Amino acid sequence: LVSLARQSEVRAGWLCLALLVLAGCSDPGGLWGDTAQPDAGVTAPLGRSLPVLCGRQAADRVARLFCGETAPEIAGLEDFAAQLGLRPDDGLLIGHSTALGGHLVSAANPRVLRMPGFELDASLVVIAFTRGQQRVELLALDPTTERMNLYLVEFEQRCNGEAEGCSAGDLFGPAIEEGWLELRIRDDEDLKNTPSDCRRCHGGSAGMPGPVLLMRELEVPWMHWFRERSPLIEDYRQAHLEPHTGVVEAIGGLSPGGVHNPDRMENLVGLLERAGLQGPQPLLFPSAVVGFETGEIDSATGLPSESGPAHVSPTWAGIYDAFRQGQLPAPPFRHERVTHVDGLKRFAESYRAMLAGEIATEALISPREVFPDDPQLRAEIGLEVEPDAGGVEALLQACASCHNARLDPTLSRARFDVDLARVDRSTLARAIERIQLPADDPAVMPPREARQLTAPTRLRLLEFLEQQLAAQP
Ligand code: HEC
Ligand code: HEC
Repeated sequence: LVSLARQSEVRAGWLCLALLVLAGCSDPGGLWGDTAQPDAGVTAPLGRSLPVLCGRQAADRVARLFCGETAPEIAGLEDFAAQLGLRPDDGLLIGHSTALGGHLVSAANPRVLRMPGFELDASLVVIAFTRGQQRVELLALDPTTERMNLYLVEFEQRCNGEAEGCSAGDLFGPAIEEGWLELRIRDDEDLKNTPSDCRRCHGGSAGMPGPVLLMRELEVPWMHWFRERSPLIEDYRQAHLEPHTGVVEAIGGLSPGGVHNPDRMENLVGLLERAGLQGPQPLLFPSAVVGFETGEIDSATGLPSESGPAHVSPTWAGIYDAFRQGQLPAPPFRHERVTHVDGLKRFAESYRAMLAGEIATEALISPREVFPDDPQLRAEIGLEVEPDAGGVEALLQACASCHNARLDPTLSRARFDVDLARVDRSTLARAIERIQLPADDPAVMPPREARQLTAPTRLRLLEFLEQQLAAQP
């Protein structure tokens, strides 16, 4: 990155070729010219304490918004997108995700991505948002350092201050997109040793490449994305069709019927790669091959097949096996739908009733009801450890994604490693304690958002760790 910055004069001109719309492109000096460098040190205006990250003096759009003279006022998602220069109704929806919050994502509660259209802006911002979580994930290109900075903005709603707290309807309905209060921002440096550690997937630890914009399914058929002719759009409509008006509810400012094809994301990744701003995708998932093998994607047209899924995909099985052995991150699910028909129907009925005002917001059932009950399928979707996992398998499946030899050794979590030969006695004892904490304890392992242990697999893992502890000198 340092060398990139040094070359920035040369590259700025070069980047111009890749930028379709950018004022001042003819003058490389002026290209990044409008980004004022703040003075050394952070001087907070009287009475306003700036977030820690402002001291790092990033020049991307997010830092500029949060580190300015006055605290930003952000009413909700649409307002936030607008303040970051993103156009209305410009974005994509995903019906299954291995990103943060993926355990809440399905066609009934899709993950929202907001991004610019087909041009590469020197102050690129991409937003990711999932209903159910009071937060927004952001990726913002810093035109000065040419680094892709990551931010997590958390907010509260009025219901947080009420005695009953927030209901399912407050969190999973349209209410979560408005009336934001108590904004808080952290960047990938602040988050590097938390369960939300962005660098774990996007890269960017000291000495490593990244952070990068991620897209696991880079090419057609974009199995898990909302796209032309996707059955996911129909699944979404089932739940979000307002019964009295016949209007399909928008989500994250996007109307699923008119949603764009993911080629705009593919294009953005291509522009960034050609501009030298990021390397090849680290987590590619070959969804075309998997789709052809299962029969879900018609091999002649590349479109969703009419006959539906039939077969196992050897390609997927190979990647999944590598995950089971702790060698690769888990792949996305092998089918495009992660929903079970009955669960989807139950949730859709409940959600439509809420939209129509027939049930209270507290009565909405959780969108997690859409997932199948079958524990093997739940494991393959990424929700839980496999039902028949023994102690070692449970350790690899539940802990390897965050505790492995590739970690920055200065992080406290590097003391625990799924390679137990590298773990000392007291850390091993702490692991045993932390696995047994109550599910809502912030220190519980695995953390709440990660793949969960089931009751039997937790017992098997504990037994295994106790044996290891007893065997250690
Ligand atoms: C467990 C891995 C994982 C972690 C941890 C993670 N992400 Fe991501 N993120 C992904 C994946 C995979 C995608 C692309 C597909 C998707 O969104 O489902 C993504 C997408 C995004 C996007 C949309 C742009 C893009 O890269 O496709 C943003 C913005 C984003 N993440 C921000 C963050 C931030 C901020 C953090 C930390 C607070 C974070 N992510 C942590 C895996 C992760
Ligand atoms: C989503 C990421 C994630 C997963 C999955 C995860 N951990 Fe952690 N773990 C962390 C983070 C972040 C820390 C450091 C912050 C803290 O101590 O809470 C940590 C800390 C720990 C520590 C304390 C290390 C020390 O010496 O301070 C132990 C022990 C631990 N984890 C065990 C486990 C075990 C066992 C599993 C699997 C059953 C697991 N973790 C799964 C993220 C994770």
